[in-house]
Amino acid sequence: MSNASSSAASGAMDPVRAKRGLWSSRLAFILAATGSAVGLGNIWKFPYITGENGGGAFVLVYLLCIAAVGLPIMMAEVLIGRRGGLSPVNSMRAITSHEGLKPAWRWLAVIGVLAGFLILSFYSVIGGWAISYVGTAATGQLTGQTAESIGAIFSGLLSDPLTLLMWHTLFMALVMVVVARGVRSGLERAVSILMPALFVLLLVVVGYAMTTGHFGQAVAFLFQPDFSKLTTSGVLVALGHAFFTLSLGMGVMMAYGSYLPKDISIAKTSITVSVMDTAVALLAGLAIFPIVFANGLEPGAGPGLIFQTLPLAFGQMPMGSLFGTLFFLLLIFAAWTSGISLLEPLVEWLEEQKGMNRKVSTLGAGIVCWLLGIASILSLNLWSDFAPLGMFAMFEGKTIFDLLDFLTANILLPLGGLLVAVFVGWYMSRQALESELSMSPTVFSVWYRVLRYFTPIAVAVVFVYNLV
Ligand code: PFF
Repeated sequence: MSNASSSAASGAMDPVRAKRGLWSSRLAFILAATGSAVGLGNIWKFPYITGENGGGAFVLVYLLCIAAVGLPIMMAEVLIGRRGGLSPVNSMRAITSHEGLKPAWRWLAVIGVLAGFLILSFYSVIGGWAISYVGTAATGQLTGQTAESIGAIFSGLLSDPLTLLMWHTLFMALVMVVVARGVRSGLERAVSILMPALFVLLLVVVGYAMTTGHFGQAVAFLFQPDFSKLTTSGVLVALGHAFFTLSLGMGVMMAYGSYLPKDISIAKTSITVSVMDTAVALLAGLAIFPIVFANGLEPGAGPGLIFQTLPLAFGQMPMGSLFGTLFFLLLIFAAWTSGISLLEPLVEWLEEQKGMNRKVSTLGAGIVCWLLGIASILSLNLWSDFAPLGMFAMFEGKTIFDLLDFLTANILLPLGGLLVAVFVGWYMSRQALESELSMSPTVFSVWYRVLRYFTPIAVAVVFVYNLV
């Protein structure tokens, strides 16, 4: 380990780091980090939690959380990764040993890696829904359907564990194939093709939504804050989602930062990634809500929202089968690049720590995650009444699927982010931060203050308030 820590200090490559390679360019890092950030969180989750939490005021809080909490933490995570130059856990270990800090800090990354693993287990199930809808759209089954019949297609899918298992298996296999091939040959190539395609396809759907006639109502719903609709739990959901959507609190940005060449600006790249991520979420909202209002659907319909609204639009628009197929392919791409990033930190760690071969560690981690996903699948049908922690008021009525989502997005990720802010803001030496960030002194001091004071206090207050 002393090798790794001295290399963190000197920037010299030790044998482990030399073997890893770096991103081929700034764009490659941006593509990969955006690939991780943009996913089901933007297209599936953002619209439905916005609908559940009343629209405008929630969106405003979410945007504030991105700018004042998410962005500073993203910079801190990328910084840790680049400084350590190893997997998240070992980067933390290298930095603590070099800076003379307690090695226990590395647990921060361990918690993150585990959270990522838990997320992937249910994320893959939703990715499976998207795969299933490609088939539904491509075979013309959406054409001419009513809101009820579209709703029936969705509930039919959820009530069928074997079909869900098949698509979940396919999704996990797609993720494992790219992770097993390694970051240079697999990930970078995949994202540089998939990300631009995603943007274009989303714009097509927004273009259609603009012509449905209820665009104005959707814009008002998303951007006119009505604070009477905002609850404290809505604020926690917005904060948790800021972490989820930017892939924070889990070591993903540390893992990707470890491949970032020294001469690339951490601040600029983090801003670019956050802006693109936010743009995709807002575009998804603008694609979905005009359809919701045009068809008199319920904005607060929950996790099925996009699977019950968009198919309706595809069933009505000219060439809807084609656009529908493309859209769900887009969703799979977005979910795939995020899924890859959820598995990567764990595999990297197994590889370094246990000396396991990448293919073997991918297979092992992937299979355990796949097994856990089965519990989420069953909680959508056979176990839909089973609430394992139902005895606590906070978890009342939450199925395994709901619990995994709640525990990761609303508890583990904000906690991970809080620890990152405290570690970087209060424990790492200022000189190390300045040398990694190389920003103008004014910008640096704004970031430093926000990270030291605002971020931890905001996260802690929202947290405690909700627990009490
Ligand atoms: N950011 C991804 C999304 O919005 O879908 C989900 C995600 C990926 C969360 C990777 C966390 C993570 F580490």
